[in-house]
Formats: sequence, C-alpha cells, structure tokens
Amino acid sequence: MAQPSPTAVPADTPRHIAIIMDGNGRWAKQRHRPRTFGHSEGVEALRRTVEAAGELGVRYLTVFGFSTENWRRPMEEINALFDLLRLYVARDLDRLVKEGVRVHVIGSREGLQADIARIIEEAEAKTRHNDAQHLIIAFNYGGQDEIARAARRIAEDVSAGKLAPQDVSVDRFESYLDTAGLPAPDLLIRTSGELRLSNFMLWQAAYAELVFVDVLWPDFDKAALQAAIGAYHRRERRFGGSDAEQP
Ligand code: IPE
Ligand code: IPE
Ligand code: MG
Repeated sequence: MAQPSPTAVPADTPRHIAIIMDGNGRWAKQRHRPRTFGHSEGVEALRRTVEAAGELGVRYLTVFGFSTENWRRPMEEINALFDLLRLYVARDLDRLVKEGVRVHVIGSREGLQADIARIIEEAEAKTRHNDAQHLIIAFNYGGQDEIARAARRIAEDVSAGKLAPQDVSVDRFESYLDTAGLPAPDLLIRTSGELRLSNFMLWQAAYAELVFVDVLWPDFDKAALQAAIGAYHRRERRFGGSDAEQP
C-alpha cells in the first residue's frame, strides 16, 4: 500500500483504528447468496481497508476476523472462515512483507488446526522486522478469554515466585495481554448497524471513540473509513479529565 511520508500525516489522525467487520451474512442474504459468499467479499473489503489505512497514515489497524463465540456457527461456515484466513495469508503475505506491514495475530491458539497455527506463525515471523504499518488480526479472539488467559499467566508467575501480588498493576496486567506493546485503539468502528462490542477488545477499548456505521462490511471502503475518521474528529476526548475549554 502507498505509505504517506510521516510529515504528510495530519497530527490528529487516529494512530490505531480497530474494526468489528460485521454484516457479511446480511450482505449475502440481500443478494440471495450463501453466507460464505458474503465472507469472501468481506476479504476484499479487508484488502481495501488495509490499503486505505496505509494511505491515510493510520499506523495500527486491528480487525476482528473470528470470535471465540463464532464456534457456535455451523461447521461449514466456520470452515469457510478458516479457509479465508488461509487464502488471505497465501495471497497477501508477500505484498505485506514488501510494503512494510507487520502482522500480529491476537486470540487463543488453542483449538486451532495445526496448519492455521503454522500460517499465523509464518505471517508473524516473516513481517517481524516491519514497522511502517501494523495489521493486527483478531482470530479466535474474545476479550474475556484474553483477560482470563492473562490472569492465568499472572497467577502462574505469582505461584512460581516470579511476580509479587503487589506488582500486579494496570501496566503490568497489560503486558500479559495479547496486545502487549501495542497502543490502545483511538477509534473503534463497527459496521452493519449493530450497537455492541461482542466481546471485542474489552480492556483496550476503555477510552476508544466508538463509531457505529450502517454499511455492511463487504461494502466498506476508503470513503467509509474517511467518514468514520471524520466522526472521530468531531469528538472531544477527555480520558476522565474535565472540558479543556472550561475554567
Ligand atoms: C461478520 O459478518 C463476519 C464474521 C463474524 C466472521 P457476519 O457473518 O456476522 O454477518 P451477519 O452479522 O450475520 O450479517
Ligand atoms: C463479531 O460479530 C465477530 C466478528 C466480527 C468476527 P458477530 O456477528 O459474531 O457478533 P454478534 O453475534 O452479532 O454479537
Ligand atoms: Mg454478525
């Protein structure tokens, strides 16, 4: 993707945008096509969005690809979603490597087929030295699961004597999350008109600006991303402080 020079990026561009890519099934239904058709068109929207984020100077982009609750769907649909991850990495990894995009995958690796785990490791390893843009794919991800896994590892470190209970702070806890070292999202977008987080980035979204758009994910494009960034610019972020304009 075209990377703007850092000086060309407006200072108020959100550093990290997280997206709940929702509405593939409804998009397909409107066209009397199977849900899996909506998912494959959703991958095209993902490609467009990664590119648009790069052009707009958004350094971190997180996308929700498969939730820990999506195992409740029919096996055929689950398999199709896993196939799309295989296809996306097979088709796009070389380009991401060349274009300076670092891929991170967050979520539980438990229960994933061996080849999927290998694909994830390969994508992370091949892009490890990139830093121009970061693409974080949430796959087999649930915010509650992520927090529980972090708590379990903290408990293990405490019982092994590597960590003292009084040292468990917000910053220390964060270092045990899948997103350790990544900035928190500034803007969280959900497509398809649903007004919920569905277990996405529960910890990290503490102060994200939430923007809900009616567009179904396969129709999402650069203009829709720019519109969401425009809505973000009209917000006043306070982080618990008081109105900067008031005495
Ligand atoms: C989002 O689209 C994609 C995933 C959850 C993987 P959906 O499949 O949830 O589509 P809708 O919400 O049923 O329209
Ligand atoms: C959230 O969407 C998960 C992903 C986008 C991957 P869902 O479509 O699964 O969420 P609910 O079930 O409508 O809350
Ligand atoms: Mg949905």
